[in-house]
Amino acid sequence: MSPDKKNAIVTGAYGAIGQAICSGLALNGYNVTLAGRDASNLEKTRSWLMHHTGNQHISSIAIDLSSQKEIRELSRKWKGPLHLLINNAATAPSRRTETPDGIEMQWAVNVLGYFWMTSYFHPFMTGNTDARIVNVASYWAGGLDLDDPEFKRRPYDNDVAYRQAKQANRMLSAAFAERLASEGITVNSCHPGDVNSKLSNAFGFGGSESPEQGAATPLFLARSNQVRNITGKYFEHLKEVSCTFSSEKNKVEALFRLCEQSLPASEK
Ligand SMILES: NC(=O)c1ccc[n+]([C@@H]2O[C@H](COP(=O)([O-])OP(=O)(O)OC[C@H]3O[C@@H](n4cnc5c(N)ncnc54)[C@H](OP(=O)(O)O)[C@@H]3O)[C@@H](O)[C@H]2O)c1
Repeated sequence: MSPDKKNAIVTGAYGAIGQAICSGLALNGYNVTLAGRDASNLEKTRSWLMHHTGNQHISSIAIDLSSQKEIRELSRKWKGPLHLLINNAATAPSRRTETPDGIEMQWAVNVLGYFWMTSYFHPFMTGNTDARIVNVASYWAGGLDLDDPEFKRRPYDNDVAYRQAKQANRMLSAAFAERLASEGITVNSCHPGDVNSKLSNAFGFGGSESPEQGAATPLFLARSNQVRNITGKYFEHLKEVSCTFSSEKNKVEALFRLCEQSLPASEK
């Protein structure tokens, strides 16, 4: 890693949109750390990025983002400052499944994964110039049920679980933005674009936009001076859009407290 460049971590780095985000950051000279669960896909993407962008400062970490313990361990090994965290990984299994820790999979990866990455990595961002967190959410959002977030009572439907997760991404962005403002870290969320991917295929959709188009808004939030001092906002197609979910302050705080319960007592 080059010490005079900004360090970025991108989750879901070998996914359709993730790879395009990493490519944009690599072309802009960031030290990019690819985070994903499959070592072979990570290595293929790392080689591709180095070859196609000419940036040799690309590294990777194999991590299952459904595991709080793995994320905590990873943070303990992280060396050096962090300037940019892009939470982008997502999953949408067709049937209800649980992680080895007994958490419903979409709640674990799509919501708590973002929450844990932010919780464990923001200390490395504190005080760094222009530190930013970008949460890739969606316009396809809603239906969050804080009394049954893991579909223990409701019948599981991957689309319903996904929409509530993407609502939660947007709300948690607002919650973290408030908490991290004093540390000089901005937190924004966005809809990327409709892109053909493993994820969109899980809902029977192809996608009308290219991965590069899908990466444009996350990259805008990551790099543009126009949003340097903006935090807690939601964006679509490079424009700020009002988010009704994030304005429900009581529900935002209730969601944050619910996510906090997943942390060991000493880390809340
Ligand atoms: N595509 C769209 O039209 C669209 C629209 C709106 C929002 N989004 C958002 O855009 C983001 C990227 O989606 P995408 O379309 O690029 O999907 P994708 O190609 O399926 O990428 C998702 C990535 O997340 C990774 N992932 C899933 N579970 C994981 C776990 N437990 N640990 C580590 N990594 C894990 C996947 O790895 P594996 O391949 O190993 O599972 C994959 O690399 C998501 O947040 C999604 O909600 C996408």
